Amino acid sequence: MRKNIVAGNWKMNKSLQEGIALARELNEALKGKTVHCKVIIGTPYIHLSSAVSSVDTDRIGVAAQNCADKESGAYTGEVSASMIASTGARYVILGHSERRAYYHETPEILKEKVKLALTAGLTPIFCIGEVLEERESGKHFDTVKSQIEASLFDLSPEDFAKLILAYEPVWAIGTGRTASPAQAQEMHAFIRRTLAAKYGEEIADNTSILYGGSANAGNAKELFSNPDVDGGLIGGASLSADKFMPIIEAF
Ligand code: PGA
Repeated sequence: MRKNIVAGNWKMNKSLQEGIALARELNEALKGKTVHCKVIIGTPYIHLSSAVSSVDTDRIGVAAQNCADKESGAYTGEVSASMIASTGARYVILGHSERRAYYHETPEILKEKVKLALTAGLTPIFCIGEVLEERESGKHFDTVKSQIEASLFDLSPEDFAKLILAYEPVWAIGTGRTASPAQAQEMHAFIRRTLAAKYGEEIADNTSILYGGSANAGNAKELFSNPDVDGGLIGGASLSADKFMPIIEAF
């Protein structure tokens, strides 16, 4: 059975002290509460180890936002998947559109990152999504399909089954312009059909597909009520417990 998941992506925000304060606040807010989704926080690298020791990791998973496309060695400034795993973090966001656009991460690079993350025992949260021109010219389904094919479809079914996907239309990220619930459902159903054609109905059915792009307390319930939307990858609204908790509670 696929899981409902609400994952925060803090991006390049918060000092170590601010980040740990937020992790603790979320941990407190979730204590003794019954929630109907898995909660994950995606922190900068430097927060990972402290975040892991500040929360009950059975209730709040900790994710990195990237990892290196090399295993180890002379790659100044890089952080490997196995280093991330050594902090106790269990997830890694890969293929975010900001990484693709600003750091030129190609489908081939992302393919390597996914393999290294899986080898290190991390669960990738793999992001896909079209830019505005692609949607306006009706190419959004092709774009998303080719992003999935190019980086993920050489995985074995066993490995593919370990992934979480996140559909994030680039035009909705940080813009305040959310995809409509119908647009999200249409794309999520398309993604699931694409997975079913390659890996079969069972794996497709069991894959959590999150929506990302200006999701917030006001629209989360409607987005999550779609049959193929299994949660959210939340940027701006994950930066405070006040904004993030109602999204978690939307399930
Ligand atoms: P946003 O970011 O919620 O601030 O639009 C989502 C994301 O980039 O993951």
